[in-house]
Amino acid sequence: MKKILVLYYSQSGQLQRVLGRLKDGLLAGDEEVQCDVREIVPVTPYPYPWPFYRFFNVFPEAVTLDGCAVKPVDLADQYDLIVLGYTIWFLSPSLPVTGFLQSNQAKILFAGKPVVTVIACRDMWLIGQEKMKSLLAGLGARLLDNVVLTDQGKSIYTFVTTPRWMLTGKKDRFWFFPKAGVAEEEIHRADRFGRRLAESLAAGKETGEAPLLSDLGAVNVNGKLIATERIAHRSFLIWSRLIKKAGPQNSRGRNMVITIYAVFLLCLVLTVVPLNMLVRRLLSPFGRKKLARAVEYYEQPSGR
Ligand SMILES: Cc1cc2nc3c(=O)[nH]c(=O)nc-3n(C[C@H](O)[C@H](O)[C@H](O)COP(=O)(O)O)c2cc1C
Repeated sequence: MKKILVLYYSQSGQLQRVLGRLKDGLLAGDEEVQCDVREIVPVTPYPYPWPFYRFFNVFPEAVTLDGCAVKPVDLADQYDLIVLGYTIWFLSPSLPVTGFLQSNQAKILFAGKPVVTVIACRDMWLIGQEKMKSLLAGLGARLLDNVVLTDQGKSIYTFVTTPRWMLTGKKDRFWFFPKAGVAEEEIHRADRFGRRLAESLAAGKETGEAPLLSDLGAVNVNGKLIATERIAHRSFLIWSRLIKKAGPQNSRGRNMVITIYAVFLLCLVLTVVPLNMLVRRLLSPFGRKKLARAVEYYEQPSGR
């Protein structure tokens, strides 16, 4: 009997539902598998929906991986595979997940263990997964696969629909914008990953180095977002230092710098982002090979 741990933090329940479908797939076949699902719970809960300043107050800590304190998770002695579900906060793993990975409990749990990461986010997760890779490597875990589900609609729409959802709790379509969040059909189809995992575990494949979820459409990197993420993250590092210096979370000093940052961000989105898109479109014939290599890199280990 193989034992799987599904560990996650989800605020609205979206990622939880993705993992629920994965578990359905795990248990659907004849393979003998046992699955424990455990939620990561922060000592001080984060709000959802988020008040505007609370939302931006977690920005510096998320970017610099200052994980929050989390409650101990009730675990069995031994697992054959860990499925780690996480969402992205400001191009980084969410603070409760980072906090758990920095806990003493994680040091014991993850050492030498095969891990499958599952992300459900807007559509900017590349840098977050790079950070996740280094957190897992620090724990001595072996990352076998990565599954990514992103919000429905074009990036330009989700730039509005995802923050609206986070700040108001509203997911419905409005004007010409699509519904917020991952499409229901995508969530439903996540059982295919569980089925494959059960088959792979039955064959003992989790002890090897090869990915288990190839050819299932586990990831689909949007090449157009690679440069945007890299540029945004550079600016995030600078601003997170500035905001941290302005004062502790929810202090007046921090909120003042956050106001300046929010205006800066809006100006950036309205000016630099479209300009950058235009320049990249003009230069794209010259960088195609480089871009294809970058896409292939970020799609590892599972691939399309
Ligand atoms: C504080 C915060 C920052 C976020 N930053 C990003 C981001 O940088 N990239 C992204 O793709 N999604 C981002 N999101 C969206 C989340 O990754 C995720 O889609 C959303 O929180 C819903 O997940 P859940 O309800 O399952 O927790 C952010 C959400 C929050 C709350």
